[in-house]
Amino acid sequence: MKILVINGPNLNLLGTREPQIYGSTTLDNINQELIEFSKTLSGDIELEFFQSNHEGEIIDKIHSIKDYDGLIINPAAYTHTSIAISDAIKAIEIKAVEVHLSNIFSREDYRKNSFVASSCIGSVSGFNKTSYKMALLGLYDCLANE
Ligand code: DQA
Repeated sequence: MKILVINGPNLNLLGTREPQIYGSTTLDNINQELIEFSKTLSGDIELEFFQSNHEGEIIDKIHSIKDYDGLIINPAAYTHTSIAISDAIKAIEIKAVEVHLSNIFSREDYRKNSFVASSCIGSVSGFNKTSYKMALLGLYDCLANE
């Protein structure tokens, strides 16, 4: 099972970026923990990680993954602005899960809308780095039971 994990803008700064909101774990550590967690689900999950601060690069990456089984995406601020990322996920017809470290529904009003959610089978928001594990569990369960 091949799963791509995409992280959007400013998430490369995790660890030092507003730790009171996003925690103090770096993106590399989150990715490493996700690899360890994937081994508890199945020996057969291959994870690839991609981070970009550029909308077009994220869209190009989504277009390139037609042979993948699933996508986990934290679109970061593009969640609230990018119809293009949402359309890209729909275009390649991949099962995707949207992830947020913070609870986007308990923050500023402009964070409450997600353009990406409608292209996903589910969303996880508010459990800090554990959100990624929850997303992987949900996606794995969905793909394994297809
Ligand atoms: C975020 C929430 C977004 O509103 C914000 O722009 C981010 C991170 C999260 O993971 O909580 O950059 O996606």
